[in-house]
Amino acid sequence: MTITAPSSTAAAIHVQDLEKSYGKLDVLRGVSFEVARGTVLALLGSNGSGKTTTVRILATLLKADAGTASVNGFDVATRPANARESISLTGQFAAVDEILSGRENLVLVARLRHVKCPGTVADDLLRRFALSESGARRVSTYSGGMRRRLDIAMSLIGNPPVLFLDEPTTGLDPEARVEVWNAVGELAGHGTTVLLTTQYLEEAEHLADRIAVLHRGRIIADGTLAELKRLFPPAAVEYVEKQPSLEEIFLALTSGTTN
Ligand SMILES: Nc1ncnc2c1ncn2[C@@H]1O[C@H](COP(=O)(O)OP(=O)(O)OP(=O)(O)O)[C@@H](O)[C@H]1O
Ligand SMILES: [Mg+2]
Repeated sequence: MTITAPSSTAAAIHVQDLEKSYGKLDVLRGVSFEVARGTVLALLGSNGSGKTTTVRILATLLKADAGTASVNGFDVATRPANARESISLTGQFAAVDEILSGRENLVLVARLRHVKCPGTVADDLLRRFALSESGARRVSTYSGGMRRRLDIAMSLIGNPPVLFLDEPTTGLDPEARVEVWNAVGELAGHGTTVLLTTQYLEEAEHLADRIAVLHRGRIIADGTLAELKRLFPPAAVEYVEKQPSLEEIFLALTSGTTN
């Protein structure tokens, strides 16, 4: 159910009636959604619901069986090269080079993408993703959160207008997850359109302008968090003292400690 229609003229990603099967397994059975320019859409779904399949089709890595999809105005089936130029994809697993330092990874990608002043671009991204201090260290010494931030930073080289983040925080601890959230939040502030897949409700809650729920091959709900909440009004008003969540407790305990 779509609650409010995003403006289609501004849509950076447009997906209409997408279908995809693997043999007898019908994964996408008519998926439609839009992502307005400069906004973050969280595609929420359980394991195997087809999130990665959707992202791979949009990233031109996989062909749909039916339906249409366009990125930055380019149809992924008929204009794949233009669509590819418009996007950057950060997969479920970080793709950074362990032996190089964080800065070297960034400079390498900047050179590969023929970006002017690779060193300046690298230093700017290290700063934006709070990696300046560790920029000269080998990535093999980085924590999971640092790697993921570096991975996202690498995907931004060349300023692609559309970014796909496939489960950017899976496997990270709550603290590292918040670091990645801050990095993604900053991106959206810079006007990048982000399609993010996640299994974590609180991630969608934190980051997304809109949330689309993929279930059994279809988008079963699509709207802002407030709109989705309105779909499920509380059955009864309960008066209870609000307890902090485990995540809040963990963060409070671990923030500000130096050792
Ligand atoms: N190349 C493939 N061949 C056969 N089946 C596949 C292939 N890729 C994915 N599938 C199946 O399609 C379904 C959707 O997979 P997909 O990876 O899109 O799900 P997902 O929502 O990204 O899941 P997860 O949360 O685990 O990453 C799963 O049942 C998966 O096993
Ligand atoms: Mg996946």
